[in-house]
Amino acid sequence: MDAELKNTASEANGRRIDPTCMSHWLPRLQAAGLPVPRTILVPMSREAYRDVFNLFDGKALEGPANEFLRKLAAAAAEIGFPAFLRTGMTSGKHSWARTCYLTDPARLLSHVASLVEFSECVSFVGLPCDWWAVRELLPTTPLAVCPRYEGMPVCREFRCFVAGGEVRCMHPYWPLEALERGGVADPEQVAAQLASCPDEHEVRALAARAGAAVGGAWSVDVLETRRGWFVTDMAEAQKSWHWPDCSVAAGGPRAAPKASVG
Ligand SMILES: Nc1ncnc2c1ncn2[C@@H]1O[C@H](COP(=O)(O)OP(=O)(O)OP(=O)(O)O)[C@@H](O)[C@H]1O
Ligand SMILES: [Mg+2]
Repeated sequence: MDAELKNTASEANGRRIDPTCMSHWLPRLQAAGLPVPRTILVPMSREAYRDVFNLFDGKALEGPANEFLRKLAAAAAEIGFPAFLRTGMTSGKHSWARTCYLTDPARLLSHVASLVEFSECVSFVGLPCDWWAVRELLPTTPLAVCPRYEGMPVCREFRCFVAGGEVRCMHPYWPLEALERGGVADPEQVAAQLASCPDEHEVRALAARAGAAVGGAWSVDVLETRRGWFVTDMAEAQKSWHWPDCSVAAGGPRAAPKASVG
């Protein structure tokens, strides 16, 4: 591994970065030539993060967030609209139209504020927002849309748990309960469609390559698009939501939906 990757992985603003953060695993996937969405990573300083909180108190930004917003806006302009916006740790996908689905450059600050708010509330300690990602929106063919998740599309997608280059298990990304809670019409039928994978061998091979590129125990999310399968997300296995009836979950990665980031 070269020095540049090591640095990206371990530090931002002089602080240690959580390996689940995209800034750790994405450069490794890119270096290994895996299909990933075009992505621009933008760091956020502590001062800029604190500045965003002024909005929650009904105040104007004091200034430190402005430079960050300028860089993020430039990244979005380069990627194009609509873009997929998230932090290194989360997309806040259950509030799709307010968080990760960015259609309008004028609404960038509002999306940033929604993601900061979600990151703060998602668990007892909250999720860091040291890194942000602007990604190309991949061309998917949604099998359903969730009205209760602000228009979140549901696409065929699989979560594999890997240990290094070995795939330990593979599941449909969306459990039935998520479709029910999201307000999908005929959730059982959609769940059945989502569970059938025409390219299981290919999905497993991508997950194995991702695991080998990053090393250690991870969840790897692989999304079907009209341009083929893409690796969109990874998280350390013990932090990832895992199907509770999976035997690998019982003996390996813990199922922890509440505090999970993945
Ligand atoms: N670039 C993209 N284009 C289109 N859809 C995307 C893109 N990136 C992610 N998605 C979809 O958005 C949803 C959330 O994406 P992502 O995995 O990046 O967020 P997350 O909050 O980390 O989710 P998780 O809970 O799985 O960790 C997934 O259904 C994924 O397929
Ligand atoms: Mg994630």
